[in-house]
Amino acid sequence: MLHFFIATVAALSCWVASVAGFGLVASGNNFVVTTDGGLIFTVDKTTGDITSMLFNGIQAQSNKGKHSQISSGIGASCTWFQGGNQNNYIVITCTTSTLTQYYIARRNDPAIHMGTYTSAEPTIGELRFIARLSTSTLPNGYAVSNTVGGTAIEGSDVYLVNGQTRSKFYSSRQFLDDHVHGVSGNGIAAWMIIPGTAYEGSSGGPFMRDINNQNGGDQELYFYMNSGHTQTESYRQGFHGPYALWFTTGSTPSTFDYTFWEGLTGFLGFVPQSGRGRVSGKASGFRSQFSTLLSIGWSNSAAQYWVRTDSSGNFVSPYMKPGTYTMTLYEVELAVGTASVTVSAGGVAAANITSSLRLPTTIWSLGDYDGTPRGFLNADKIETMHPSDARMSSWGPATFTVGNSINTLPMAVFKAIGALTIKSTLTSSQIGARTLVIATTLAFAGGRPVVSIGSWTSAIPAIPTQPDSRGVTRGTWRGNNILYTYSIPSGTLIAGTNTITISVASGSSGATYFYVRIICSSNNTLRRPL
Ligand SMILES: *[C@@H]1O[C@H](CO)[C@@H](O)[C@H](O)[C@H]1NC(C)=O
Ligand SMILES: *[C@@H]1O[C@H](CO)[C@@H](O)[C@H](O)[C@H]1NC(C)=O
Repeated sequence: MLHFFIATVAALSCWVASVAGFGLVASGNNFVVTTDGGLIFTVDKTTGDITSMLFNGIQAQSNKGKHSQISSGIGASCTWFQGGNQNNYIVITCTTSTLTQYYIARRNDPAIHMGTYTSAEPTIGELRFIARLSTSTLPNGYAVSNTVGGTAIEGSDVYLVNGQTRSKFYSSRQFLDDHVHGVSGNGIAAWMIIPGTAYEGSSGGPFMRDINNQNGGDQELYFYMNSGHTQTESYRQGFHGPYALWFTTGSTPSTFDYTFWEGLTGFLGFVPQSGRGRVSGKASGFRSQFSTLLSIGWSNSAAQYWVRTDSSGNFVSPYMKPGTYTMTLYEVELAVGTASVTVSAGGVAAANITSSLRLPTTIWSLGDYDGTPRGFLNADKIETMHPSDARMSSWGPATFTVGNSINTLPMAVFKAIGALTIKSTLTSSQIGARTLVIATTLAFAGGRPVVSIGSWTSAIPAIPTQPDSRGVTRGTWRGNNILYTYSIPSGTLIAGTNTITISVASGSSGATYFYVRIICSSNNTLRRPL
């Protein structure tokens, strides 16, 4: 009787684990994971794709044919184990020669925890996790990236839908602020959570922005780890994450504590907190108007981090991998100071940073010198619309009179639109040899500014080093901030009204442009930004 009793209990517990409780059942090519948190998901062990995500009985995975996957599918082979504290974790490891994708279920989390290790860039040339979700159960994505029924107007990724431009790029958000983004439906919402240092293996710095969502038939939800989408840096390899695809009945989740990864060993490239260090210090010398818009970035070829300072400039970095980093102080998006700092495991390095920006005395200055075109005409729309969108104000050719509100000065000069004209009335004491400075954040197809005043025309500046990629038409102005300085010869400016034209020089035709922020200064001691 005793033997029979034990056998019955064992059989019963096995049945509970496979159907109702936390566990993994291998069936054919499928690893079916029950999280016990409302989510049951399936990984195809012969590809590494996620083929089903049932949340409270609602199927989140699209049934249109494509699965949820890293890159465009990696053809990995997968193994699994259950372990960790009280066997509360199931780890599925999907392996290729250059990429390993980890999927972890933690008991009671309605989530697929993930980490991605790369030793080389995927052959598709970018690294992203894409959840291809069902538009019937998760219909509510970002309106700006819903391209259903649209006509492609640029690069087969910008569409016109009912008279409005739409693109997956318009769902992007700066990495500095992008930790939770999601889509929703009736009784279900799916969220990509990118907590803590999950961007450490990404590229482009704190102001890089990349695709979060597209609805072109599937409701696509992304974590872009790297891409060439107006990229300013080389790609980093190593561990990316931890991150998670998390389900709720509707509410927006906060980020989560991922330190449980440290209790599970064997993740390629994963560095636990005990193997990391921090930097603590204070920024100084910044312009007080930007005191609530300061951030500090750290980067080297292996990792990148950032943090906002408090309004006095104090900061403490995230837990970083050991190494020597370039530390950069940003006022909004403008790098104004750098320092070098070395981080060691278990340590807190003390390192202050100060602005080296020196601004000249100006006759006039248009816009804030902050590494963004904010405040100029159409800058409030450019992140979510194509420049051709009917909701944009006319780009010109514009004539701007110094003294007018800068929200009438277009944020970009396009070769196809024509030169920007600036009218400046000067007194006899303001004329003479002067310096004109134009600050740009990004340019396309080698576009750079050429200045004419009366019969004087500037030399054509050298072709700028900028990302080899569209930008302004894909919702970003972020590039390599480049400053142009023009020495206006004595006798050029007159007492009275001067007409200054700024046109685009470029070896290419088409929508060549650059962004402007213009300073007419009485001397040229404006220090080049970093
Ligand atoms: C950083 O600045 C603070 C405040 O001014 C100062 O007390 C501290 O000694 C400085 N630290 C270093 C390493 O220079
Ligand atoms: C040039 O600008 C700098 C910085 O504002 C200022 O210190 C300097 O006095 C100026 N020089 C002249 C000749 O105006």
